[in-house]
Amino acid sequence: MREADALVVVGISGDLARKMTLRSLYLLERRRRLSCPIVGVAKDSWSDQDLREHAARAVKDGVEAVDEAVLSRLLKRMSYVQADLSDPGTYQPLAAALQGRHHPLFYLEVPPALFGPIVEGIAVAGLTEGARVVVEKPFGHDLASARELDATLHRYLSEDQLLRIDHFLGKEPVLDIQFLRFANDLLEPVWNRDHVTCMHVTMAEDFGVEDRGAFYDRVGALRDVVQNHLLQVLALMAMEPPVGGGADDLRDKKVEVFRAMPPADPRRYVRGQYEGYQELAGVEPGSTTETYVALRLEIDSWRWAGVPIFLRAGKALAERVTEVRLFFRRPPRLAFIDQPPSTEPNQIVLRIDPDPGLRVQLATRAGGQATWQPVHLDLIFGEEVGPSLEPYERLLDDALRGDHRLFTREDSVEQTWRIMEPLLEDPPAPHAYSRGSWGPGEAQDLVRGHPAWHTPWLPGGDNTTGAGHSTNAGKAPNRRKP
Ligand code: BG6
Repeated sequence: MREADALVVVGISGDLARKMTLRSLYLLERRRRLSCPIVGVAKDSWSDQDLREHAARAVKDGVEAVDEAVLSRLLKRMSYVQADLSDPGTYQPLAAALQGRHHPLFYLEVPPALFGPIVEGIAVAGLTEGARVVVEKPFGHDLASARELDATLHRYLSEDQLLRIDHFLGKEPVLDIQFLRFANDLLEPVWNRDHVTCMHVTMAEDFGVEDRGAFYDRVGALRDVVQNHLLQVLALMAMEPPVGGGADDLRDKKVEVFRAMPPADPRRYVRGQYEGYQELAGVEPGSTTETYVALRLEIDSWRWAGVPIFLRAGKALAERVTEVRLFFRRPPRLAFIDQPPSTEPNQIVLRIDPDPGLRVQLATRAGGQATWQPVHLDLIFGEEVGPSLEPYERLLDDALRGDHRLFTREDSVEQTWRIMEPLLEDPPAPHAYSRGSWGPGEAQDLVRGHPAWHTPWLPGGDNTTGAGHSTNAGKAPNRRKP
């Protein structure tokens, strides 16, 4: 794959660019990974200088201790093209800005309704040959619309010109899943239904929808983070080992997991909405959009049949933490202990955010007593293997170089919509929950007969000794500057 010789950021005046893209470009510049000009495109009547000032502010807001020399190198690459992207006439100035460039990378940070018209516009202007196009989620809002969008894009682009971003796939601990699983003979032999009884995936956020009401109210938690981020994580947790290092070797194995999953059952689906959500700007009065979901999934394969998979995701919860937790079989009665209490099963927890790490929960003899207690072996990746790249930094780097491994392929997008479809068609009414809680109590009923939802493994905390939740309302989001 040829390296891109220009990067075109369409929608550069938007929120995503301000919070993520510009900062990631700075980080790439700092590692000397950028070698091409950057053309920003948006509706605003900005000059090149306006864009540079905007970019400098965004970088300074997002990065601690900015290196002025690096920033100035980055800003020198930037130029601006004003364009109304729904008007095919506006692509000529863009074509002029790309004169002499043969492999531009277009990064579309715009609402999905504009993907089709923009790709058509750049195709008509003769800019798609040799180009690649990155699109942001959401990729469709159900199976039919995902297929329709795909057909539109494929009118002008081949699959190997398209990169669908799911930023979770750029997170270091998510990348680590296949290494942990397949590079460790200690783990791989027990990673199946003979040993694992249940899997929990939790994505909790301690902040609400805030100023994204107008977007979020049409989307809801299931479409926002489950159909994409959490199912991609699940595929990596559940897949067979890829047989080679190519993008399709990995993506083939992931899609096999989805193909083995029956459609989700709406009777095993709990929706919640936090109190106060309806007062947000952009939210419809009486909205039934969910800000919390808990659901059960199955994978009907030799490795996973009979192992229930429970996912939960929500906004305005007690903590910000994303983790995957495997529960192992309980040992038999400990005949060598008088009146043996039953032990907690062994658990493996992969914490994805914040402060990624791996925890193994074992049972050992309680000090001075003839009974057992749970103990933890904790590995904090940042301490052991050093700092990692930011997701968008890594994904932009890969996109510029044409590496498709961490981008989702169309068949897996369609499969994930197929699995979610019954929940979208027949959603149960949402239950109210208070901000700073762990979501509606009904989510506990979903896991009855299986391990209860556990308090996630929190950074700096020793809190995985059992089921149950504490609430801790009103904490600020714990995001760090790089
Ligand atoms: C986005 C969702 O895709 O992912 C947001 O639209 C969510 O609602 C975000 O907050 C979470 O990403 P991260 O990287 O902050 O965990």
